[in-house]
Amino acid sequence: MLPTHRPRRNRKSQVIRDMVQETRLTTHDFIYPVFLIEGQNQKLEVKSMPGVYRYSADRIIDEIGAAVDLGINSFAPFPAINDSLKDRLARESTNLNGLYLKAVADIKRQFPDVAIMTDVAMDPYSSDGHDGVVDVDSGEILNDASLEVLGQMALAQARAGADIIGPSDMMDGRVAWIREVLDSNGFSNVSIMSYTAKYASAFYGPFRDALDSAPKKGDKKSYQMNPANRLEALRELALDEAEGADMVMIKPALSYLDIIREVKNHTNLPVTAYNVSGEYALVRAAALNGWVDGERTMMEVLMSIKRAGADAILTYFAKDAAEVLRRG
Ligand code: PBG
Repeated sequence: MLPTHRPRRNRKSQVIRDMVQETRLTTHDFIYPVFLIEGQNQKLEVKSMPGVYRYSADRIIDEIGAAVDLGINSFAPFPAINDSLKDRLARESTNLNGLYLKAVADIKRQFPDVAIMTDVAMDPYSSDGHDGVVDVDSGEILNDASLEVLGQMALAQARAGADIIGPSDMMDGRVAWIREVLDSNGFSNVSIMSYTAKYASAFYGPFRDALDSAPKKGDKKSYQMNPANRLEALRELALDEAEGADMVMIKPALSYLDIIREVKNHTNLPVTAYNVSGEYALVRAAALNGWVDGERTMMEVLMSIKRAGADAILTYFAKDAAEVLRRG
């Protein structure tokens, strides 16, 4: 019998395919993570992320300007801090004259209309390379002692002009803690985008190279989530909502598309996803070897993340994808 239903009719020409396309990427979807280093006039490639650079504060302005010209208006800076400035309590993280907060203030001065999301976690500033405070005797990560540090870090970032605070540390109760610190210091307008479900993932390797922020001892499994768990993400979601998060994030993105969809189906908050360093590296490496079409693979990856339910995507591909979109 001949088919009575022919879905191919909706694919018969470019016009029809465009008409029925369900998901579209735009530059408004992208949050561009950028790496900062000390010094002047520095632009150093991250070895494990070809095409991604670490910029000194003076050079980051040009990179942001180039992205803004392509229609990207949201940025997530991360600092690579000199070892000499790292300590157990991440004290450098509140230094308004340090690399990170000065750069944030400078970016906001030069580009008042962009949104800056700052990262709250101790690892870039911690001599232990952990996101929280490490107990000297037991090596345990101390949740409640970490909250003190994270709250002060968030407050300093708000003072530097951050629009959105992004706690990536996965300590319990940090969203409520940070909200309270911000509100009681006159920053009730500063948003919180919580890393709601952040998994203990091998895909963060290149990022830790970029910032030299790998844990000195142990791993992050006592605070980052087990990749095997789905329901636990919903529990974290419920807590972040109750604690006052404005937006929630899933990280990584690509191996967790099911979690993005699950979270999207369970919340009315905007959902974001972090297309992390290792995911970037996989696509880039294969493309550089000529094993996949880099541009098409990149766009398919980003489209899949949006289709899964992400309203915005943190991605190192932001500029490259914006160029493809501009070309049409
Ligand atoms: C740490 C942090 C990490 C990333 C963002 N914030 C790495 C980690 O948890 O070790 C990873 C981002 C990426 O891989 O692109 N607070």
